[in-house]
Amino acid sequence: KKLTIGLIPADGIGKEVIPALSSSYSNSPNFNFIELNAGFEHFQKTGTALPQETLDRLKNECSGALFGAVSSPSHKVAGYSSPIVALRKNLDLYVNVRPVVSVASNKDPNQKPIDILIIRENTECLYIKQERQTVDEKTGLKVAWADRKISEYASRRCGKMAFEMALSRDKIRQSLRLWDTRPKVTIVHKSNVLSITDGLFRETVRGVKENDSMYDGVDMEEQLVDSMVYRLFREPHVFDVVVAPNLYGDIISDGAAALVGSLGVVPSANIGDNFVVGEPVHGSAPDIAGQNKANPIAAIRSAGLLLEHLQLHTQASAIYNAVDDVLKTGTFLTPDLGGNSTTQQVTDAIIKYLPDS
Ligand code: NAI
Ligand code: MG
Repeated sequence: KKLTIGLIPADGIGKEVIPALSSSYSNSPNFNFIELNAGFEHFQKTGTALPQETLDRLKNECSGALFGAVSSPSHKVAGYSSPIVALRKNLDLYVNVRPVVSVASNKDPNQKPIDILIIRENTECLYIKQERQTVDEKTGLKVAWADRKISEYASRRCGKMAFEMALSRDKIRQSLRLWDTRPKVTIVHKSNVLSITDGLFRETVRGVKENDSMYDGVDMEEQLVDSMVYRLFREPHVFDVVVAPNLYGDIISDGAAALVGSLGVVPSANIGDNFVVGEPVHGSAPDIAGQNKANPIAAIRSAGLLLEHLQLHTQASAIYNAVDDVLKTGTFLTPDLGGNSTTQQVTDAIIKYLPDS
């Protein structure tokens, strides 16, 4: 039976990378695609950023979905709020997993490979958007405030996901006979300053391991978020699973993307107990939108993650391998990786490497 996957291109280069994929995949014997609306452009046309129809069809017809990218204006626009944030909330997609991997380079075989899985809490932190402005009585000048929410409930399920993923990554590594590394979870926080909020995140994630002997084989370390960035740039190969509150997770993963070539190659999956939405880490990239030069790899790998979480491991590996093959040959690269191929050319090259699409 064919699986139905919802496609939500949304804005900017999302409208290029998602259709490029679905058009080269259109004869797939395994998947049906349905295209769904959301985004800032849709809001400008209709007054709604995330239509009820999109939500209903996702819930009723789809096994999972692939989201492109959304443009969010940096000033407040009345009635608008980001549809991806709303989607995460609505479908209770409580973690965002972001694998950051380097592809073995033929030029420098001694370079240690990077293989990090960033687990970003996806429902709270500063993203609850409880902001307000007051006026300071003494100076008469504006003051802006934001509440930050960290709950034991959300931190625990996010921490649990981190340790589970560390175990399953270890299983795969062992089967590939990569024995030299023990699985490890690095907890990112800033509880030296924010001892109540980040303190709760830290303690709760620590508790996940301390209260469950299943995770005895997984090492645990902590890193303050600022020195995390430093270490990430100095010695990225030492990290395995990294777990962080929402905002730190967002920032660290864009930084980590720079280590593996480009934001255009880093995928993510928004995961909940009942649904999964693949989504490239990058945004709508207005600086290159409409020029057919966006790198489709982040979106294609996000499709791989989506399949992985639907337990279609063979199909997922096939996608990752096809991407690696194309990256290794170095013939079809978009400008962000130093080439001059178009979005569609790279997509077609990758699809051609798939054994059975
Ligand atoms: P961005 O990720 O869109 O772009 C940052 C830089 O990376 C740009 O120079 C862009 O050209 C480059 N880049 C990104 N993806 C690329 C790709 N696939 N191929 C080649 N180059 C790529 O971040 P920016 O510029 O800060 O934000 C632009 C818009 O995207 C904003 O409205 C922002 O709110 C939104 N955004 C949406 C996200 C989402 O949909 N989940 C995530 C991040 C930003
Ligand atoms: Mg981001």
